[in-house]
Amino acid sequence: MAFRENHWRVWNMSNDPGFVLWFTGPPAAGKTTLAERIRASLLNNGRRVEILDGDEIRKGLSRDLGFSKEDREKHNERVIFVAKLLARNGVVTLVPLISPYREVRTKARNEIQNFIEVYVRCPLEILIKRDPKGLYRKALAGEITNLTGLQDPYEEPLSPEITINTNEQTVDESVNTIIEYLKARGFVR
Ligand SMILES: Nc1ncnc2c1ncn2[C@@H]1O[C@H](COP(=O)(O)OP(=O)(O)OP(=O)(O)O)[C@@H](O)[C@H]1O
Ligand SMILES: [Mg+2]
Repeated sequence: MAFRENHWRVWNMSNDPGFVLWFTGPPAAGKTTLAERIRASLLNNGRRVEILDGDEIRKGLSRDLGFSKEDREKHNERVIFVAKLLARNGVVTLVPLISPYREVRTKARNEIQNFIEVYVRCPLEILIKRDPKGLYRKALAGEITNLTGLQDPYEEPLSPEITINTNEQTVDESVNTIIEYLKARGFVR
C-alpha cells in the first residue's frame, strides 16, 4: 500500500504540473460558467482543482475592498498570491476574475509559473441581454456607477494564450477549445 501511494505520488508529480487558467473578461462574459465546466472535466481526469472566483473572494478574503481602481488591484493581487501557492503545489487553479487592468494581469503572468490567460470575450449588446445578475440593468438605470465595461474601464488583453468568443460558441465548444489547448501544451492528458 505504501509503495502504491508513493508510486502514485511520484507519477502524479512528475507528470501533472499545476497551472493557472486566468479567465478575464467583463461581467456576464462567461468566466464562472467556463471555470465550473473545466473543473468538472478535470476532476473526472483525477486532477486536484480549485476555483478562485472573484465573487466568492469578495465575500471573504477581499470583503474589506470596494470597486475603486486601487481596491480592484488589491483584490486581484490577493488572488494572484493564493493562485501562485496552489499552482506550485500541483493544483489546477481556475481564476474567473474580471481583472480589468492589464498591469495587474501582467503581474499575475510574471509571478505565476504556468500562467494561461483566457480572454472571455463577448460584445456589450449581448452582455446586456444576458445580464444574469441584473448588473447591466442597474447600471443603465443609474443605480450603480462603476460597472466594468460600461462605466469603469476594461482593458482588453493584448496577447492572451486563449480567446473565447462566447457569443459565437456554445459552452461545450468553449470548454473543448480550452481542454484541447491544455492537452497540446502537456498540462493535461
Ligand atoms: N460559450 C459560452 N461560454 C460561457 N458562457 C456562455 C457561453 N454562451 C452563453 N453563455 C452564458 O453566459 C452567461 C455567463 O455568465 P457567468 O456568470 O458565467 O459570467 P461571468 O463572466 O462569470 O460574470 P461575472 O463577472 O459577473 O461573474 C451564462 O448564462 C452562460 O450560460
Ligand atoms: Mg462570475
